[in-house]
Amino acid sequence: MSSVLRSVVTGVGGYLPDEIVTNADLAKFVDTSDEWIVERTGIRQRHRAAPEQGCSDLAVEAAKRALAAAGRTAAQIDLIIVATTTPDLTFPATAAMVQRKLGAPIGIAFDVQAVCSGFVYALSVADGFVARGLAKCALVIGSETMTRLMDWTDRGTCVLFGDGAGAVVLEPGEGTGGIEDRGLLGFALRCDGTKQDLLYVDGGPSTTGTVGKLRMAGNQVFRHAVVNIAEGVEAAAAAAGVPISSVDWFIPHQANQRILEGVARRLGIAPERVISTVAEHANTSAASIPLAWAQGIADGRIKPGQLLLLEAMGGGLTWGACVVRL
Ligand code: ACO
Repeated sequence: MSSVLRSVVTGVGGYLPDEIVTNADLAKFVDTSDEWIVERTGIRQRHRAAPEQGCSDLAVEAAKRALAAAGRTAAQIDLIIVATTTPDLTFPATAAMVQRKLGAPIGIAFDVQAVCSGFVYALSVADGFVARGLAKCALVIGSETMTRLMDWTDRGTCVLFGDGAGAVVLEPGEGTGGIEDRGLLGFALRCDGTKQDLLYVDGGPSTTGTVGKLRMAGNQVFRHAVVNIAEGVEAAAAAAGVPISSVDWFIPHQANQRILEGVARRLGIAPERVISTVAEHANTSAASIPLAWAQGIADGRIKPGQLLLLEAMGGGLTWGACVVRL
């Protein structure tokens, strides 16, 4: 069999800011209850970044942990991609700030904006560099300060989101082109811009000149979620050439426990194969997949050699999935 270059994940790390906000904390100032939030979403708490912490600060902490797990140093990084919808500034890219704060050398650094699907999109972009030999040590980071986009008077959205960051290190590795190779094995990426009004932020540099607040028609997004995600997962599995039944761990974007379970049921994935952190982290947008991944490794469930299936859906609407062997 011929030799092919694969993008291999050599380290994963996650970072959550210290402050924990429980459902009961929110119920003190918005008309909601722990019971409603847990029953409708599975969320029990979320983390919130300290006022002085920006998106790039969370990203740097996650990146340091991923680098340590990979046995790499910042000096070796030649590509940084940050998936975020809550950058420190409109520009420069958060990735450029991460490069500076890590002390990484001059290289390639930019952001990817696909909201909650951003990490899956960013992985596929990084694969385009690493699997073509254009980067030898890439950092792909999902980092978000979603609490900064909340309208704290809107109980339909403000209870759903949290802050955090997760990162992976990607390095080139020789494979055979088969499904036993380590690395990123297949993707499916989608966007349906006609559904923009279901989930968006009502501000921006070229319209209002303000940051804006998150707006969502939650029950309509919910209706699209299960069908869209299931289609994306099937397409990614087909692109990788693996049956979904052979996947060891399903690592979904953590938006809502009912969506996680609905997708798993539709795809015939056993609940015990699903990594779920939504109860503790809430929806951290582009950070949620690498955060859940890092947790699954830390608690000993996810092991080298296993086959993982990542999926996400978010504003755009965007959605996508990726098959990876660790
Ligand atoms: N506490 C108490 N009651 C509430 C709350 C709350 N926090 N929020 C809404 N309600 C009320 C509503 O006002 C409504 O009351 P009414 O019947 O008197 O009008 C009732 O609960 C039902 O509201 P729905 O919106 O229909 O509730 P639903 O069961 O759909 O749950 C939720 C809402 C949790 C938002 C759900 O629709 C959801 O998870 N949607 C998908 C979110 C998602 O996946 N987003 C994509 C990723 S996010 C991103 O990309 C940035």
